[in-house]
Amino acid sequence: MDEVIDGEEISARVREEVAEDVASMDRKPKLVAVLMSDDPASETYVRMKREAAEEVGIDSETVHIDPEESEEKLLSTVAELNEDDEVDGILVQLPLPDHVSEENALEAVVPEKDVDGFHPFNKGLLMEGRPRFVPATPKGVVRMIHEHGVELEGANVVIVGRSDIVGKPLASLLLSRDVNATPTVCHSRTENVEEHTRKADVLVAAVGVPEFVTADMVSEGVVVVDVGINRVDGELVGDVAYEEVSEKASAITPVPGGVGPMTVASLLENTVEAARLRDADDGQDSSS
Ligand code: GUN
Repeated sequence: MDEVIDGEEISARVREEVAEDVASMDRKPKLVAVLMSDDPASETYVRMKREAAEEVGIDSETVHIDPEESEEKLLSTVAELNEDDEVDGILVQLPLPDHVSEENALEAVVPEKDVDGFHPFNKGLLMEGRPRFVPATPKGVVRMIHEHGVELEGANVVIVGRSDIVGKPLASLLLSRDVNATPTVCHSRTENVEEHTRKADVLVAAVGVPEFVTADMVSEGVVVVDVGINRVDGELVGDVAYEEVSEKASAITPVPGGVGPMTVASLLENTVEAARLRDADDGQDSSS
């Protein structure tokens, strides 16, 4: 018997909190997305982020760069946004074209405006257990598990997938003293993945393979979080074989309507945080 963890509902609560935070500020935070792609999926994600931002009172803009343009063009655009006093948060939508270095692009964003938490400096802070901007998907995953009333302290959390965007930062976040879970990270070279996944109290699938996690890989009562968004024959499918796994799970996130909306809500939280940090820094500067 499964209970669906409703990402739409939980994210609506988070977005309401963000809207209240924004209303209490004496200025509107501003988020800028840099989109160097004409992939319809990336365009959709960026549009969803912009619409969600505007709904909670965050100013938002998308800077489009032709995917045929040079890396230099992307880096100079980011440099301008770094310098622009009106801009609190910058995100460079991934993936980037093959001729552009993702590393260079992510390092170009000043850490103070890096609301994705992808700059090495912010990754380091997260690993040290004193995060500034936690990447939006791991942050949303932990929030939705908490909000659903699942205890993470001491829990065996098995993550399938070691990406820089989800698997790795999620493991760091779970290890933090705020969460105190015991993460295991499986990846493409892990032998007998199912031996790990069967031990999971909470299983997070973030591997990018449609319906990778099947019922024989999980134990009765597991809580399942599906980060996957795969398009198969025109339909969105997660990394979990939902029908069969939900028979064994005590709680499970759907695709769509699970992690996706949480990612957007967490990005908005990070943008407000960035604006507050910048305001606090300004206050310090003027008094010194
Ligand atoms: N591409 C897929 N997920 C993300 C994300 O969280 N942030 C950015 N910038 N690009 C992505």
